[in-house]
Amino acid sequence: MMDDKKEKILILDFGSQYAQLIARRVRENNVYSEIVSHKITTAEIQKVNPKGIILSGGPASVYAKNAPRCEEGIAALGIPVLGICYGMQLGCQMLGATVRPTTAREYGRTACTFNTESKLFKALTRDAVVWMSHGDQVVELPAEFESLAFTNTCPFAAVKHKRKNFYAVQFHPEVSHTPQGNQIIRNFLYEICGCAGDWKMHSYIEKSVSEIRKQVGEGRVICGLSGGVDSAVTAALIHRAIGNRLSCIFVDNGLLRNYEADEVIKTFKENFTIDLHAIDAQNRFLEKLKGVTDPEKKRKIIGHEFIEVFKEEAKKISQAKFLAQGTLYPDVIESIPAHGGPTVTIKSHHNVGGLPAELGFELVEPLRLLFKDEVRKIGEELGLPEELVWRHPFPGPGLAIRIIGEVTRPRLDILRNADRIVIEEIRKAGLYRSIAQCFAVLLPLSTVGVMGDERSYENVIAVRAVETTDFMTANWYRIPYDVLEIISSRIINEVKGVNRVVYDISTKPPSTIEWE
Ligand code: XMP
Repeated sequence: MMDDKKEKILILDFGSQYAQLIARRVRENNVYSEIVSHKITTAEIQKVNPKGIILSGGPASVYAKNAPRCEEGIAALGIPVLGICYGMQLGCQMLGATVRPTTAREYGRTACTFNTESKLFKALTRDAVVWMSHGDQVVELPAEFESLAFTNTCPFAAVKHKRKNFYAVQFHPEVSHTPQGNQIIRNFLYEICGCAGDWKMHSYIEKSVSEIRKQVGEGRVICGLSGGVDSAVTAALIHRAIGNRLSCIFVDNGLLRNYEADEVIKTFKENFTIDLHAIDAQNRFLEKLKGVTDPEKKRKIIGHEFIEVFKEEAKKISQAKFLAQGTLYPDVIESIPAHGGPTVTIKSHHNVGGLPAELGFELVEPLRLLFKDEVRKIGEELGLPEELVWRHPFPGPGLAIRIIGEVTRPRLDILRNADRIVIEEIRKAGLYRSIAQCFAVLLPLSTVGVMGDERSYENVIAVRAVETTDFMTANWYRIPYDVLEIISSRIINEVKGVNRVVYDISTKPPSTIEWE
């Protein structure tokens, strides 16, 4: 956890799909937040000394046999509590209210009227839309409660306990479908919890720099660069802390997009003057991949080869004791099943970067408390180029899993050229940041075409673009037809060996984002 001087909001997770979203919303309002299990004890909470507590939503009914609960003493700690959805039902029930299933489950955008005299709803318009998603609701309140909002079917859409510092909302202020939701969260943080708002990325940088110095002392750190934002920000942050005692390793496995290796070298060697070991291992990887068509075999070979190359290079960097990794907060939050899980929720997830613990390094993970959007802000503050900071995720096995079938140099060239065109046109159309991931795939088949008077028999390129926030589920992105048209005609005209372009319109699940 963060040091005790920092303001903190604890989010007790009851299995909500939105727990991470609540945490991000709080942080976007400049207050640090952490997700913890609902089983956290009052003693543990007191040790953390948070400015406020949020009880998340969750899929259970408070009357279910194994419904997740929290300690009743939480409401008596004097720390402000905000219950959201299930968190409201549970909190209110613990304080004497009656909760019952509704006859019709209330779901979706719902008109709501707020008592704007209340601290929680300060600066809101009286009538607005909120996002509801619940089966149970509070139907009877003891006299110590006050209702702060209502909808057509929900007389207690928001409530407050008159003596205890307990507030609750039946709707979800954390989702964008509740337009005034952010103001409600701000009000809880600033009007009710009395936060000062000390979670700012530039102060995080300062703090992280001093922590890195403390951990590393006079030691040397090795950091693997992949070309992605997480490892880039990790390196830039550590470089700020310890300067030339950072050595970076960048392995060009021959499976990168055409600008990637150059960009990494330019940014880190030239701009940051970091000790960068850029290794051209293209032949090694391609040799090992010869004749391999099975996706999992490709992954294994590439992963194994990467470790070998990295180890060989790391050996040359004498006296390095530390290995930096770009582990992020979502990797660290233990999955907290609402009906089980241990009491303390955070555990280290050390193998995210794909390097085995046997390498014997002590890990430095300066991003392990951050969400991706915070990492990007830090990248911008540290002066990393915009294209790098906002880059779409790119899989470790690279283009090998976007060439269906055998990976060969000619096929890599075709895919690289097609992929470059897709990305160029997406950027030109101003769509790059609204798409989560976008790329070209080379299919293992040829189709008939006609070029001039000639019959052609050439490759097919598939274009994939998805929107998603968690990459666990994804929808295909609706790229406008005119942009698709330019992409298609440019690829067919400019990339030798392609005579057909198709667009992937599959959602995940049941499809995956990558084709292999
Ligand atoms: P899928 O294809 O499973 O992808 O829907 C979800 C996200 O994970 C990325 N991905 C990988 N990343 N090594 C990686 O580092 C892999 O083997 C791998 N496979 C998929 C994918 O690009 C997407 O962002």
